[in-house]
Amino acid sequence: MNRLEKAMESVKGAVSLAEKDPYKPDYHAAAPAFWINDPNGLIQVNGAYHLFYQHNPYEAKWGNIHWGHMKSTDLVHWEHLPIALAPDEQYDRDGCFSGSAVEHEGKIWLFYTGNRWLADDEDEEAVQTQNIAVSEDGVHFRKLPINPILEVPAEHGVSSHFRDPKVWPHEGKWYMVLGATREGNGKVLLYSSVNLLDWSFESVLTDSSDWEAYMLECPDFFTLGDKEVLLVSPQGVGPADQPDISGCFIGNLDYATGEYRHGDFAKIDEGLNFYAPQTFEDESGRRILIGWMRMENIAEADGWAGCMTVPRELVLDEDGRLLVKPVSELETLRQEHVSYKNVALAAGEKRTLAGISGDVGELKATFDLKNCTASSFGLALRVSDDGVERVTLSFDVASRTITFDRDAAGGGPKGKRSWTVDADRDTLTLHVFLDKSAIEVFTNDGERAMSSLVFANPANRAIQWEAEGGDVRVSAIDYWTLET
Ligand code: FRU
Repeated sequence: MNRLEKAMESVKGAVSLAEKDPYKPDYHAAAPAFWINDPNGLIQVNGAYHLFYQHNPYEAKWGNIHWGHMKSTDLVHWEHLPIALAPDEQYDRDGCFSGSAVEHEGKIWLFYTGNRWLADDEDEEAVQTQNIAVSEDGVHFRKLPINPILEVPAEHGVSSHFRDPKVWPHEGKWYMVLGATREGNGKVLLYSSVNLLDWSFESVLTDSSDWEAYMLECPDFFTLGDKEVLLVSPQGVGPADQPDISGCFIGNLDYATGEYRHGDFAKIDEGLNFYAPQTFEDESGRRILIGWMRMENIAEADGWAGCMTVPRELVLDEDGRLLVKPVSELETLRQEHVSYKNVALAAGEKRTLAGISGDVGELKATFDLKNCTASSFGLALRVSDDGVERVTLSFDVASRTITFDRDAAGGGPKGKRSWTVDADRDTLTLHVFLDKSAIEVFTNDGERAMSSLVFANPANRAIQWEAEGGDVRVSAIDYWTLET
């Protein structure tokens, strides 16, 4: 058996255990079993969406990294394909790390980082190189004999962090961004090529010397409207209890000089479990993003760990703000629908509404801020029968701050996250996707997104509507059960 066959046998043996776990999401893309991390190689070819991912096919924890592979015609229903890459060459013997895909001459080209530890000890110095694997049938990938195609450029003084190639075409040439570290600072390096095989260094797109990040992982670069967006997952800046953050710079690249002028780093998701997102442009011209919801040290014995976020469309609004919206295809999952209009919530109330409860579902609620006398209001999700265990999404009216709080979830890691919303609006819209352990919230039609994992008792399914200090009116509520 070769390395790919061995890996697939291993995964097959764990599927039934993973499937039985009540926390494994239904409609979120995940590996059939065992560990998943970053989305890789996102691309649409001949109508089919491909999602590759960092995958340990032997354990529900990080290590022995392969590229898993799934495919979809609608971004919502995923079909598992054979594992695409195994670490079976000298240059990638300790992992086929993250990367991207392009289509060229009818073939899918994968660009990925080959990782090799210098010592036996992981996380010590590594040699990281960039490599190519090509497929004609979209299923089987052949690593090119000329690999590696790019090695650590000594003249740029970068350390062993040199990874996560994202490749795109622009005006007859190919470009690649890579994350790297130099003298303790994260950098994004830009390369170019005319043939996908020979690459030359162009410029440093950004450098984190004036902030704390020591490495900028998984860079992604794309045009949106009249801007160029650089997405990065910085290491060393998040809070110690939950270090994952990912975000972007918005600016303009002068392709002739390689100079990228950009604004400040801004988070692209407010959640506790969101990292290493990647985007691609689909055949209809949408810029679609998928992130990774990290789950570590939680249910290793249950045969799985982690999932992807729902796919989101990125849009730049008239004011140049980046909006993050769930893709419209998610509506095809909707089953039974319950709706309410003008529900008045009084101070101190904790109300449930008939037909609105569950651990898999979609909820959209619009609150009237104009006539609101409440000091705070919101939703409690995954509430236990005695009301003690709960995950809350509350809005503080004076500060226009939303807080997601899983401290009383009952199980799993704790944590809170807060973010402010546009102060000029007369309404607040909360759009919530529930899928077993995954919770995603979109506020005000994509103004902000929040992705977190919650390990509530599977029996906790109630949803409560709450107000404090005064009244608030929920002008519209829609709830759908979702296809599982
Ligand atoms: C981000 C990351 C990447 C790397 C991969 C390894 O989560 O650390 O930088 O390529 O994971 O699995």
